[in-house]
Amino acid sequence: MAIDAEEPDRRDFLVLAAGAFVAVGGAMTLWPFIDQMNPDAGAQALASIEVDLAPVKEGQAITVLWRGKPVFVRYRTAEEIQAARATPLSQLKDPQPDQARVQRDQWLVVVGICTHLGCVPLGQRPTDARGDYNGWFCPCHGSHYDTSGRIRVGPAPTNLVVPGYSFTSDTQIRIG
Ligand code: FES
Repeated sequence: MAIDAEEPDRRDFLVLAAGAFVAVGGAMTLWPFIDQMNPDAGAQALASIEVDLAPVKEGQAITVLWRGKPVFVRYRTAEEIQAARATPLSQLKDPQPDQARVQRDQWLVVVGICTHLGCVPLGQRPTDARGDYNGWFCPCHGSHYDTSGRIRVGPAPTNLVVPGYSFTSDTQIRIG
């Protein structure tokens, strides 16, 4: 499974389990906890999860585990939003306006699995490579995603998937 390809970086891969929160940049490691749940039915059974957005600062990103998959939640800056919206659809391999991919401009929520062969792209940690379009970079075969999670360069055929989710308050979403 391609997610396992990230195993060497697990200590740096911050994950939110349902209801729990860890800010990017923290030293805490939750993978051992996740390992106990994944890939068995424990994680798979979490049909929906609540994510507290309140501690996330502008420019930060967090990762939550949903149905055994990483989901990236990024609090986008004004510049990141502007970059996504200024991009003509004619430049996109999988044309989709940014507005169709977000419910609130600043919050981008996407499944963190490259649509090529399933690696987990880099870009969640402040020190990660984010690719040529300042979104995410999949080092497996060189796919670059933009600040809307749209594929811009590389073999990935489609944009990062936006999961079903809803805002349950100004600072909380439910995924699934
Ligand atoms: Fe991401 Fe191939 S799996 S580029």
